[in-house]
Amino acid sequence: MDEPRGAAVHDSGIGAVLLSARSLAEYRAMFALSDLALRQRLLDCPGGAASLTAEVNAAGGDARACDPLYAHLSADEFAARAQADADRGNRYVRDHPEQYRWGFFADPDDHHRHRRAALTRFTADRKAHPERYVPGELPCLPFTDNAFELVLSSHLLFSYADRLGFAFHRESIGELMRVTRGELRIFPLVTMGAVSYPYLEPLLAQLAECGITARVTDVDYEFQVGGNRMLVCTRRAG
Ligand SMILES: C[S@@+](CC[C@H](N)C(=O)[O-])C[C@H]1O[C@@H](n2cnc3c(N)ncnc32)[C@H](O)[C@@H]1O
Repeated sequence: MDEPRGAAVHDSGIGAVLLSARSLAEYRAMFALSDLALRQRLLDCPGGAASLTAEVNAAGGDARACDPLYAHLSADEFAARAQADADRGNRYVRDHPEQYRWGFFADPDDHHRHRRAALTRFTADRKAHPERYVPGELPCLPFTDNAFELVLSSHLLFSYADRLGFAFHRESIGELMRVTRGELRIFPLVTMGAVSYPYLEPLLAQLAECGITARVTDVDYEFQVGGNRMLVCTRRAG
């Protein structure tokens, strides 16, 4: 399939992909998740150090997280890296105030506290329930077809479009759709530098050719400026 021609996506200056730790409250807001949605069999990919899986299972739900770093780092190395990345991410937020809006988080201190609390919750759950944290790397996941009812993908695909190309996006979305029998939701649609992903239209056109319908939906959450939209993908009927 053709790749769109255009300028390279601007480097945000963040450096290596952050290993970040978002909470269930943040996921609820980013993905407009209802109580009903959270009762489905969920996959969080990439899971990073997010506490979604811990919190959903603690509330009686059924969630799994998948991330390549679950294979590559021991639990202690992982926690140390996530702590260092919480600090690095917070420094980036403080250094680029024009890219952020304060609302969900009151201020940069609140942002940092929130990430560290999610990391603490993640670390305890991963130690108690390692089976919930499955090593795997897009665009090829270690799950059977339709293994989940709802798949969530936060802060990888378009966030790091300065290094993850169009073909990776198309293949990864196809793979995330393979493992859900319901929806795939992706957030955000802006890069780390708070610039809209420029190839959304050709991407949606190519997904449509593969039988995947994708619609852009506004959400009631905006931390990165312009980062208040998610992509909801479903398989076209018939
Ligand atoms: C910014 S974190 C997002 C984590 C979590 N979703 C959140 O919102 O807090 C990005 C994650 O993507 C993971 N990652 C990097 N390349 C990946 C790939 N090819 N497939 C799946 N995950 C990947 C990294 O290990 C990292 O944990």
